[in-house]
Amino acid sequence: MDQIKKESVLLRFSNIEELTQSDRKLLLLAREAVDSSYAPYSKFYVGCALLLANGVVIKGSNQENIAYPSGLCAERVAIFYAGSTYPDVAVIAMAITAKANLYEVKSPVMSCGACLQSISEYEVKFKQPIRTILQGETGEIYVSEKGTAAFLPFQFFIEELKRS
Ligand code: THU
Repeated sequence: MDQIKKESVLLRFSNIEELTQSDRKLLLLAREAVDSSYAPYSKFYVGCALLLANGVVIKGSNQENIAYPSGLCAERVAIFYAGSTYPDVAVIAMAITAKANLYEVKSPVMSCGACLQSISEYEVKFKQPIRTILQGETGEIYVSEKGTAAFLPFQFFIEELKRS
């Protein structure tokens, strides 16, 4: 028996001014996306902005539903829109942020497992990681330069499924 270890690395920044211009711009656009969130049930408003290889930016926000599981997270709203509108254009980077009604979101918002799985599909499709920038409403910012690999180090992937 031995162990398999994979390292997850996130860059940590204490404020938005420390980010590259491109990351900062995307994070500000994610903040804008929060305004279109429809979250009357959780009152947790998430915004996501994607930068595509052709320079287009796509924004998405969480959309809830009274039949709770029918709602969708901001990341999947954005990435499915990108996949269906620009099927041949790679996603380069993604910024995610959130705010809530009743408290301040002080820590970076991590994507849920279902979103990570969905995002990773496009990393595989375009053979490149999606740089990910995460922040709460305030507080420190995390950047993954290796995309979902930092959050899902042992992710599901079966090469043969792509061939059948
Ligand atoms: N949410 C997202 O939009 N992204 C995530 O990665 C986690 C959760 C949304 C779903 C729901 O509308 C609200 O946040 C509370 O879970």
